[in-house]
Amino acid sequence: MAVTQGKSGGRTPLIAGNWKMNLDHLQAIAFVQKLAWSLKDARFDFDDVEVAVFPPFTDLRSVQTLISADKLLLKFGAQDVSAHDSGAYTGEVSGAFLSALDCNYVIVGHSERRTLHLETDEQVGAKALAAIKHGLVPVICVGETADDLAEHGPSAVPVAQLTAALENVAEGADIVVAYEPVWAIGSGQAATPEQAEQVAAALRDVVRSRLGDEAGAKTRVLYGGSVKAANIASFMRQPNVDGALVGGASIQVEEFASICRYKAHVGT
Ligand code: PGA
Repeated sequence: MAVTQGKSGGRTPLIAGNWKMNLDHLQAIAFVQKLAWSLKDARFDFDDVEVAVFPPFTDLRSVQTLISADKLLLKFGAQDVSAHDSGAYTGEVSGAFLSALDCNYVIVGHSERRTLHLETDEQVGAKALAAIKHGLVPVICVGETADDLAEHGPSAVPVAQLTAALENVAEGADIVVAYEPVWAIGSGQAATPEQAEQVAAALRDVVRSRLGDEAGAKTRVLYGGSVKAANIASFMRQPNVDGALVGGASIQVEEFASICRYKAHVGT
């Protein structure tokens, strides 16, 4: 079966690399250079598939400078943002600062933040709003735990999380949604493409009902959780899956480049 070339609604696939707390700013420069060369060598078409990296905060200025100086077509973003604009919030980073660094995106509500920092749906929603306010596209992460899956099936928890996160988001807002089953993150056990499709379709319905038909059609819904070069094509074949949020494999340059080039290795 061929990989769907374009996605309906004119959605450009997005391959996003969440580096988590890996690679310092010097390693980030070397990595981004290698990634750009590798994709350029392979005549990668950045208009056809968008590629974004999400380094730690301390790397962002270096990554921005490199991308701008070398006119690279990679996009980039941060892994979190404060719900506040400025003030007495020690350790937090404002969306205004990320915007000043030309970030395109910011991840909000990653399961590691929900679990380790006890972030609630309400806080995730406030962060998404802050991102939008500062001209960043929030990548809103949702996903069920293994217990949720056993108790409620795959869609219920992610649908409830996204519904809550979008509560105060204005109709037509530009967002990305990432479905990441918690049990699939870093476990080597990805969801089946069928499950990813089922939940992605349900999440698209949430976007449609909260943000309008147009947003429902144009919003990219990503799958995340143990994505690698060997399984990416099976997810990208699904009509409602528009890309991937990649963790572990996103800091291995050849593996990540290969994921970005999923159209070239269908059937391998
Ligand atoms: P993984 O992580 O690809 O290592 O499973 C995905 C994520 O946490 O975004």
